[in-house]
Amino acid sequence: MDAYEQAVPEYTWTNLILLGVFISIAVVYTRKLIKNQATGLKYPPVYEGWLPWIGCAMEFGKQPLEFIHKKQQDLGPVFTCKIAGENMTFLTDPQDLHAFFQSPCLDFQKAVQTSVQNVASISKESFFKYHSNIHDLVKGKLASSQLAAMSDKLYTEFKEQLDTLPSQGTEDLNKLVRYLMYKPTLNCLFGRNSLPVNNEVNKNCFEHFVKFDDQFEYGAKLPAFLLKAWSSSREYLLKIFCSLVNDKKESSHQTNNDKTLFESLLDTIDDQSSPNFCLLLMWASLANAIPMTFWTLAYILTHEDVYKKVCDEINNTIPDNILYILIVFNIDINKMVYIKSCILETIRLRSPGVIPRYVVQPFQIGKYTVPVGHRIFASVFWAHRNPDCFQDPNRFNPERWDTKDIERNVFPKYFFPFGGGRYQCPGRWFGLMEIQIFLVMFLKKFKFEVFDSLPKPSYLHIVGTQQPATSFSVQYQHVS
Ligand code: HEM
Repeated sequence: MDAYEQAVPEYTWTNLILLGVFISIAVVYTRKLIKNQATGLKYPPVYEGWLPWIGCAMEFGKQPLEFIHKKQQDLGPVFTCKIAGENMTFLTDPQDLHAFFQSPCLDFQKAVQTSVQNVASISKESFFKYHSNIHDLVKGKLASSQLAAMSDKLYTEFKEQLDTLPSQGTEDLNKLVRYLMYKPTLNCLFGRNSLPVNNEVNKNCFEHFVKFDDQFEYGAKLPAFLLKAWSSSREYLLKIFCSLVNDKKESSHQTNNDKTLFESLLDTIDDQSSPNFCLLLMWASLANAIPMTFWTLAYILTHEDVYKKVCDEINNTIPDNILYILIVFNIDINKMVYIKSCILETIRLRSPGVIPRYVVQPFQIGKYTVPVGHRIFASVFWAHRNPDCFQDPNRFNPERWDTKDIERNVFPKYFFPFGGGRYQCPGRWFGLMEIQIFLVMFLKKFKFEVFDSLPKPSYLHIVGTQQPATSFSVQYQHVS
């Protein structure tokens, strides 16, 4: 050992390593800076997290909705996060969302294709071949002009299902609403009793759907072998659709107008993937409308003044004999604007956490450019809580809809619960009508008492309408 080596104290090696790391980080950032300056582009602020590749996946995964909110406060309304090897950019300002939904630089199909493959085993080829046609079919079948005929069907289905309830009882409201809406919705869209909804098998089918729905978001991201119970429920539902598709293909001779959505769907798809698309459609038709109905009821019942106003509106519009409802339906249900205000106010507060797109051309948003290859998300949940667009945004206040033309479904500029652009939710008018018919009938037939305060939404999920984080019990009693 020479004199020089002896003179270097041990801690100096640690310092040298730290210096090396520091220089590497500085080089990376300087290169990025030079590159950005050279291209003249300004990218959104980035949160990288601490772990290489994984980035902030852990923090994000724990409480995604809260995470987005926190980063919005730290970094501003547009920011990028490195999550499990991907660049994910979030938009939270309602004023940016028109550009998001209308831009040709952002692609819906590329954003959802892998998730669709994971949850419903639909190959990439099949998805790109059929997706647009299926979207247009659902949009046409559930257009406003078709709703009058459907409202009668829904009325009959809901009446039948409500009649199965005892004259009084205590239940968790979320489960109760799910039970009451599941069968009528499917009967209406897929054809009465097309799916096994009213026998012993029904119970299984319902339970499997609940499991499939509960973990849908994980199923979209994780390999199926990590989600055994979820995968077996998916297989169960797919098997039902397989046999249903075979039966229907042999027996369907109806004209186009008389066909249910399900029958028309089978005409559109000419390969093996029909059962898989049916499963997706089943999920889309139940997964948002049912929890939204639960939340609307929960909001109404926990606000005494609102509950009273809603009951007054229903009783003033519909005579006590509930059968009259059939006659007044098409004329009067839209005129019940207070209950509709309650639905829209609930939808504002329980909108999807995020709506995804994929950047296919550099996307300019304000002073920032979001590069090609980023996944980009509009956080409608937080956008609807922006005080510049909605005064006192966290308060449930149906009266804020008073001045709007909601009878004709004209909504405010910064209200995006159904997404937007070419692939905006094609079931929205059916969904709104279905929720309103159900609430009117349920609240007309039963009076309610609540025991719990309004539950918080579960912040675990960011796709679609949130589930309640805790249970919410109600006591119901037959009145008319
Ligand atoms: C309150 C209830 C509902 C809400 C909040 C809701 C919300 C949404 C949202 C945010 C999207 C994505 C749109 C986008 O990316 O721009 C969507 C898509 C979709 N929704 Fe709805 N939805 C509701 C009810 C329904 C109902 C009742 C149906 C069917 C009967 C339905 C069928 C669909 C379908 C099929 C898609 C996928 C469209 C495509 O892939 O092109 N939705 N919905």
